Amino acid sequence: MSSGIGLDALRLLHSKGYHIFGSIRKAEDAKKLSETYPDRFTPLLFDVQDHDAVVKASKVVFEHCTSLHALINNAGIAVPGPMEYLSEDDFERQLDVNLKAVRRITNLFLPLLGAKPSYKKIPGRIINISSVSGLFNSPFNGAYSISKHALESMTDVYRRELHRYGIKVIAIEPGPIKTAIWQKNLNVMDKYADTDYYDILQKANKMIENSEKSALPVSKISNLILKCLTKKHPKSRYIVHRNRMVFKLLAYYLPDKLVDWLIFRSMANGEKHRPV
Ligand SMILES: NC(=O)c1ccc[n+]([C@@H]2O[C@H](COP(=O)([O-])OP(=O)(O)OC[C@H]3O[C@@H](n4cnc5c(N)ncnc54)[C@H](OP(=O)(O)O)[C@@H]3O)[C@@H](O)[C@H]2O)c1
Repeated sequence: MSSGIGLDALRLLHSKGYHIFGSIRKAEDAKKLSETYPDRFTPLLFDVQDHDAVVKASKVVFEHCTSLHALINNAGIAVPGPMEYLSEDDFERQLDVNLKAVRRITNLFLPLLGAKPSYKKIPGRIINISSVSGLFNSPFNGAYSISKHALESMTDVYRRELHRYGIKVIAIEPGPIKTAIWQKNLNVMDKYADTDYYDILQKANKMIENSEKSALPVSKISNLILKCLTKKHPKSRYIVHRNRMVFKLLAYYLPDKLVDWLIFRSMANGEKHRPV
């Protein structure tokens, strides 16, 4: 929660009086946030890929409390590149951070969310920060789309399995949001310069910039997280997109061939990396 959606959610939830246990990778980020939020904030230092460190950090939470109001699975990365050339390590890293780690961490905290009734009487909630890429597949962001589609499935499976405990499991599906996640991918397509795809990939920086122009402020997601925490009957998924109806049309109703054509045209013009 050192940046982007996580950082803004910390700001809002802290202002509403919640105590937040926030996962952070770098000690200097933890120090800075502890100074900003001297009370009701406990930094947990771990990388979601390092399960031993996650288990160690979880002990701090179990020592501090007997129940959690919610678990928010937010950490995520985008590893772009053509399916044909994406390295096995990059593909695995994408799936491990965005998907497999969510299962490992969720399972660890289930007792505090009410899956072991001896711990908690009022069931907690699980909020997975998914993406519109969990509903729509974009070329050259394929590994990210695959990770978020699988996260959508995982959200549904957990919701149906945890129903017996009253634990609500919700997916938030943002379209472009103003955070650093896409900037982190500027120039990464250069490594595919000698592939056939480079006629399109060389426009990636421009496409990212264009995509960001339509990005929504991060507070849209924090406010929705708060709603998911407080609403008696939250929905199971929320799409957050500037053109929600157009996106739904593309994702659910238009025939594949028409959507493919729209994507090809958009990429050829170098308008946007993703048509959504
Ligand atoms: N921004 C968008 O347009 C958008 C759209 C749809 C969905 N989302 C989703 O929103 C979530 C948050 O992204 P964001 O937009 O806020 O981007 P961000 O500013 O890049 O934040 C990503 C966060 O994830 C953390 N993280 C990444 N890898 C990690 C790891 N291995 N272990 C622990 N923490 C890790 C980062 O920590 P460090 O600071 O230490 O790197 C950072 O705090 C992601 O799941 C993303 O897929 C974003």
